[in-house]
Amino acid sequence: MDGDSGAKRAPHLYNYTREGFTGARSNIVRTGYSPAYSRVEGDYAPRRFDIAGLFPAAGRPMPIAILRGAGITLEASRYEAAMGFAMRNVAADEVHYIVSGRARLETDFGALDIGHGDFVLLPRAVAWRYVEIGEPVMALIAACEGALAIDPDPRAVLNVARDVHEPVPFEDGAPGEYEVVVRHPGGTTSYFHGFDPLGGQVGRGTPQVRRFRIGSARGLGIASGGISPGRLIDDATGQCLFYHLGSRRSDRPPIHCNADYDEIIVYAGGPGAYGGMTVPGTVAWTPKGIAHHGAEEDVAEPYQAWLLETRGNLSMTDAGRSVARLMETGEYGIHPGDG
Ligand SMILES: [Fe+2]
Repeated sequence: MDGDSGAKRAPHLYNYTREGFTGARSNIVRTGYSPAYSRVEGDYAPRRFDIAGLFPAAGRPMPIAILRGAGITLEASRYEAAMGFAMRNVAADEVHYIVSGRARLETDFGALDIGHGDFVLLPRAVAWRYVEIGEPVMALIAACEGALAIDPDPRAVLNVARDVHEPVPFEDGAPGEYEVVVRHPGGTTSYFHGFDPLGGQVGRGTPQVRRFRIGSARGLGIASGGISPGRLIDDATGQCLFYHLGSRRSDRPPIHCNADYDEIIVYAGGPGAYGGMTVPGTVAWTPKGIAHHGAEEDVAEPYQAWLLETRGNLSMTDAGRSVARLMETGEYGIHPGDG
């Protein structure tokens, strides 16, 4: 879609929405197709990120931030070999979304065999490390300061009893020196131990680390779910909310302006495309207050995608900028004015 296409199909209904999917909304009929823009001057513009281009050829596999705002950082990470250290983020809860690969994720509360399409909730101060890499792992990490919980709404979007998994305790690693990199607001500090600080056998209490696969989420049709997508993960502060955005029986989303939330859409996989997005792990960012439309969801070939809404005012990091392209907000393709 070029910057001005859509105008021929006038008139268009433009929606202004408060509080994401839950607040007051108003609409107006316009001749112009509001998402279209011919060019932009300045930095506050929708972008697409190709995270595969981010990673250095060598060096320690640390998460690389691409977008950052109050209470949230979106990072990407790649693990080609077992991590020689663990990480413990004491400043934020983390959601790891596995774009590709296969490995074992060891945590303070046990281990999970993880693969493409997994969401893993790792609460703050819980240590983790990727080991036994079957295929190189590429992950997106959303680090959110609010307490996150798997909390589907409507409940039918995810069968928690059946499809949310908890890690299994595992034996301590071999004797030797172990490093835990603590991430804190001032940077990182490494702790060293003469034993494996993550292993353990007996545990009880409330599950902390939890995992589900995006393939387990149900795309609710209009008759059962309404136009809003199903929520998967909630944040007690309302700062970061995660929604399922896979194909479903539904009308195309309305042209709208989300006044209170930045939107991050991640394409998870096909066979079908989500509008202009076809490569798993592609990240599309629409800053709050910028008109957008969104692709047709009721398509012949199914696809999986998800949406992260945040009140944080995101901006690109230098690393993010290095793999960013200007995006049109009709179907989230590359804007013809990019470059
Ligand atoms: Fe939106």
